[in-house]
Amino acid sequence: MNVTAAVINQTNAPYQLEELQLSHLQPDEVKVKVVASGICHSDEAVRVGDGPYTFPAVLGHEGAGIVEEVGSAVKGVKPGDHVVMSYAWCGHCPQCRHGHPSLCHDWIPLNEGGFRPDGSAIFSKKDGTPVANFFSQSSFATHTLTKFHNLIVLDKKMDLRLAAPLGCGLLTGAGTVFNGLKPAAGSTIAIFGTGAVGLGAMMAAKIAGCKTIVAVDIHDSRLELARSLGATHTINSKQQDALAVIKSLTQNDGVSASVDTTGQSAVMKTALDVLAIGGTLAPVAVTRHDISFNTMRDLVASSRRMIGVLMGDAVPQTSIPQLIDYHQRGLFPIEKLVKFYDFSDINQASQDSASGATIKPVLILDKSYRP
Ligand SMILES: NC(=O)c1ccc[n+]([C@@H]2O[C@H](COP(=O)([O-])OP(=O)(O)OC[C@H]3O[C@@H](n4cnc5c(N)ncnc54)[C@H](O)[C@@H]3O)[C@@H](O)[C@H]2O)c1
Ligand SMILES: [Zn+2]
Ligand SMILES: [Zn+2]
Repeated sequence: MNVTAAVINQTNAPYQLEELQLSHLQPDEVKVKVVASGICHSDEAVRVGDGPYTFPAVLGHEGAGIVEEVGSAVKGVKPGDHVVMSYAWCGHCPQCRHGHPSLCHDWIPLNEGGFRPDGSAIFSKKDGTPVANFFSQSSFATHTLTKFHNLIVLDKKMDLRLAAPLGCGLLTGAGTVFNGLKPAAGSTIAIFGTGAVGLGAMMAAKIAGCKTIVAVDIHDSRLELARSLGATHTINSKQQDALAVIKSLTQNDGVSASVDTTGQSAVMKTALDVLAIGGTLAPVAVTRHDISFNTMRDLVASSRRMIGVLMGDAVPQTSIPQLIDYHQRGLFPIEKLVKFYDFSDINQASQDSASGATIKPVLILDKSYRP
């Protein structure tokens, strides 16, 4: 069948809406009619070449939609089911079996390989040119083929347009706190960068019972939102020295946990320097920037830790329903972060995300959908 997809034809090129051919369904695949898709900063990172990728490609990895067809080997999902698409995992390697599918041995081929394991393409141009997929879901397309392990079946009462960004950004932020940092109730945390990932982390910190939650950004509007979502203190680091303020807020101790979502070298270092004795930093940005520190002075002498957390170390099939439950109880107000855009305005949506004007753009691919 033909689909309309936003194609990136080369590094740094804008999204271009094109008619593509969708391949036939393989036994382990599911065809989804995409209703909505969040845009994640990682789509932009790939588009501008922060990591190598094969182009032409259809990006998008925060899709939500309705199942239209399932392959002969797929069980547990049926046509008509409402689903969120998250990342792909194999389900049988030791990490998947130990409940850490974001550590899957096949993470790279399944999520960043661009093509099926047999080398075939899910999308192709009219002249036959194969087009790479992303995260085994490519949600910037009106229909897509994905895998059973990407899918989380939702209650039909949940608005698919709000559920879409749970597939990556919000899952990553919340999971970094719940599964990576695991802060104790009453503890202190600092979050650098209050985009979707940072705010997801912040809402999770509040749910986890953190007593002092410091949000740091360079946009006052974002900090204002952070305050309304539970930040007890906010710092505009263009105007204030974040390290000095956090030290003074914590009687010079520092915080027991910090998250960096900015990926800026100096900010990542500050996120390490604000830690108390025994504190842990989770730097989670997709970045080309490095961080330089002295292992003895900055880590060992105060028994600090630094941890990498991919996709919030979350099992999407259990974590996303949990986040939806928090949303329904008013503890995870996704609606305060999102702005809807027509699919055809994808370049504007992407620019608004990069400029800071919109925290979480959500593209509407099926305008007839009503929750
Ligand atoms: N680890 C993972 O699995 C994973 C998953 C999803 C996204 N990510 C990455 O997480 C990062 C954050 O994603 P996002 O969607 O929230 O992006 P975003 O661009 O919306 O958020 C980044 C925030 O950092 C702020 N910022 C930038 N420079 C700053 C500075 N010098 N000081 C203070 N604040 C500054 C920005 O104003 C913005 O609010 C991205 O790099 C993204 O690619 C990682
Ligand atoms: Zn993402
Ligand atoms: Zn695996």
